[in-house]
Amino acid sequence: MHSSQEIKNLFDLYLSQYKFQGHPSNLYQPIEYMMNLGGKRIRPVLVMMACEMFSGDPEKAMDAALALEVFHNFTLVHDDIMDKAETRRGEATVHEKWNENLAILSGDAMLIMSYRLLGQYENPQLKVKLFDIFSKLASELCEGQQMDMNFESSDDVHVDDYLKMVTLKTGVLIAGALKMGALIGGASDEDSEKLYQFGKNIGIAFQLQDDLLDTFGTYEKVGKKIGGDIVQNKKTYLYLKAIELAGNKVKEKLTSLYSEHTSGKEQKKINEVTNIFKSLVVDEYARQVRDAYLDLSYAHLDAIVLPIENKVEIKNLGKQLINRDF
Ligand code: IPE
Ligand code: IPE
Ligand code: MG
Ligand code: MG
Ligand code: MG
Repeated sequence: MHSSQEIKNLFDLYLSQYKFQGHPSNLYQPIEYMMNLGGKRIRPVLVMMACEMFSGDPEKAMDAALALEVFHNFTLVHDDIMDKAETRRGEATVHEKWNENLAILSGDAMLIMSYRLLGQYENPQLKVKLFDIFSKLASELCEGQQMDMNFESSDDVHVDDYLKMVTLKTGVLIAGALKMGALIGGASDEDSEKLYQFGKNIGIAFQLQDDLLDTFGTYEKVGKKIGGDIVQNKKTYLYLKAIELAGNKVKEKLTSLYSEHTSGKEQKKINEVTNIFKSLVVDEYARQVRDAYLDLSYAHLDAIVLPIENKVEIKNLGKQLINRDF
């Protein structure tokens, strides 16, 4: 059994040899740029680790791993347009470095590339399953992203809606990565479904941590502008919990801060909202919910009948992903 770091090294080596070039070259430059910008590579690592968990050779899962990393990066290119984000992984976003039209089309090309990579699996039954899982998660991710955008301008969003939205925009891709890896490794449908549920709950916890870092992290570590969610009026758990806990005066203040897009006064808004969040200790509540989803994920992993040695690496990785500061 490889460690998650060894699996990441294997994937990084494969990726470093992969060419994302083509004509016209300006369509492919943003793809090459984005794919070589770093990133945690958690989805490909999970695909390969899930494969090895069921005694499959992790190299067999490499094409699916790359397909999902390309797909993930496509969602980020479009997400950064939608979220008006100027930096990612400490560098300029694609639409800032080039322009929105190129970011849209290069993103589209990446989505198609991910389907073509998956098409390389020759076993017809496996291939059908992989395409089904992938198409379903891709549709769901779009639904989650649209909910996220709809919530920006709605004041009728509740914690349940947030959890549904993050399950779709983040949970199902991590879940699908694990399920696909498990099936490539020879897992039964039943076991691969348990791993899917493990991933879905890890994904929810992962997004809660992403939201925490967006407000309470540092640019040096996170590589994204701190406070971006506040500027965009994102209905994160932090915001929803603050609305629930605040007295009338603070609630009115918070609602009014979130009622418009304040051009030129972003930093003031970020500071005011962050101070309200701090005074209500909503970050602590968010960490509790995050940890509860991690525990829930473990219950699904524990239900898979395999030697503990096969599961320990993936379990540790889950914990690291949730407690990260980057
Ligand atoms: C960012 O994903 C988008 C979310 C689902 C929170 P990652 O945090 O995995 O981004 P990279 O690939 O490591 O940059
Ligand atoms: C992104 O959520 C989820 C997807 C890209 C599908 P965020 O908008 O919070 O991700 P970041 O913070 O920009 O990476
Ligand atoms: Mg977003
Ligand atoms: Mg974003
Ligand atoms: Mg975020």
